[in-house]
Amino acid sequence: MNLDVDKIREDFPILKQNLYSGQLVYLDNAATTQKPISVINIINEYYLKYNANIHRGVHYLSEKMTQAYEASRKTIKNFINAEHAHEIIFTSGTTESINLVAFSFGEQYIKEGDEILVTQMEHHSNIVPWQMLCERKKAKLKVININTFGELFLGELDNLLTEKTKLLAITHVSNTLGTINPLKEIIAKAHKKGVYVLVDGAQGVQHQQVDVVDLDCDFYVFSGHKIYGPTGIGVLYGKEKLLNEMPPYKGGGDMIKSVTFEKTIYNDLPLKFEAGTSNFIGAIGLDHAIRYVSNIGISNIAEYEKELASYTSIELAKIEGVKVFGNAMNKSSIISFNIQDVHSFDAGMVLDKMNIAVRTGTHCTQPIMDFFGISGTVRASLAFYNTTQEIDKLIEGVQKVKKLFG
Ligand code: ALA
Repeated sequence: MNLDVDKIREDFPILKQNLYSGQLVYLDNAATTQKPISVINIINEYYLKYNANIHRGVHYLSEKMTQAYEASRKTIKNFINAEHAHEIIFTSGTTESINLVAFSFGEQYIKEGDEILVTQMEHHSNIVPWQMLCERKKAKLKVININTFGELFLGELDNLLTEKTKLLAITHVSNTLGTINPLKEIIAKAHKKGVYVLVDGAQGVQHQQVDVVDLDCDFYVFSGHKIYGPTGIGVLYGKEKLLNEMPPYKGGGDMIKSVTFEKTIYNDLPLKFEAGTSNFIGAIGLDHAIRYVSNIGISNIAEYEKELASYTSIELAKIEGVKVFGNAMNKSSIISFNIQDVHSFDAGMVLDKMNIAVRTGTHCTQPIMDFFGISGTVRASLAFYNTTQEIDKLIEGVQKVKKLFG
């Protein structure tokens, strides 16, 4: 393994703390990641020394903050290789980014009888906004199904993409099954039929290199807190042409050029979509989080996490009665499983008392649970600061759960 994980862990003070009876084993990274000290320090520093609203003052602090906010936009543009910085819109997170597109794209492009395509492995946040849009516009929601490995039935894609389909909303990586979808192939097929594509990158961008130009996706969205940044800040990348054609999502300050009671002229990109006071210090924290992962190198992260995930799956498979959900050929470091005859909540509670943090339940993906006919799973989601010793503790924990409830 190619990372100096001991050194990396020094950057994450929270990982050193003891809980009930020993050191925290944090395996809930798909829910939120821990923050490196550089991110915590920069947020402190900006609140301590430079706090002032952006785009609204000629004074030193306001200019300093505006520069840092716009520098963050550039960092993100470079990180995902967007063509223009103004194609990066700051939002509060993935959910707001998707809702923004569902509303604004929906207003511009969706009419009665149109179809929107999602997949059976989507997080609720990439289902419900589209359902709401379909209700508003009398459009139809269609679904690409999954197989028992947790992979998409791509054979169905050509039939599902009809002349009525306007948009495909698809996750990069399943937050429950870990499946990495073959986006390039899917986007090319969608585009061939004139269908726009939104990619939910909430579980993708922190684990592998994303190049929005190479992918040719129309929208790519992600959350800051899942890529080692603060909460309350997220990103919507959209192609310039589409963002220009879409009406604003929210009205307020900063998104206008001029306002009279008769007529308001909206601002240019990106501010057209950033009404009100943005989470500017959050954006600066995200900038530093992205610099942090870039310094380690996303490909190093991907390689390390792949090995750790494979070790986890192999060790779990040795335990009789453990069933893993999601066995895609191309898989991220998310491992969902159940222990025979044990409810996922019970397992989670015992693991918690052993200082192991995992997520339990439906993971906001009820359609996946329905597909497998289960009420939930235990989910271990790994990051580059996790170690094989921590996985060994998880395995020990699972064995203990089995003994207690078996
Ligand atoms: N969407 C986050 C998860 O998968 C919260 O846990």
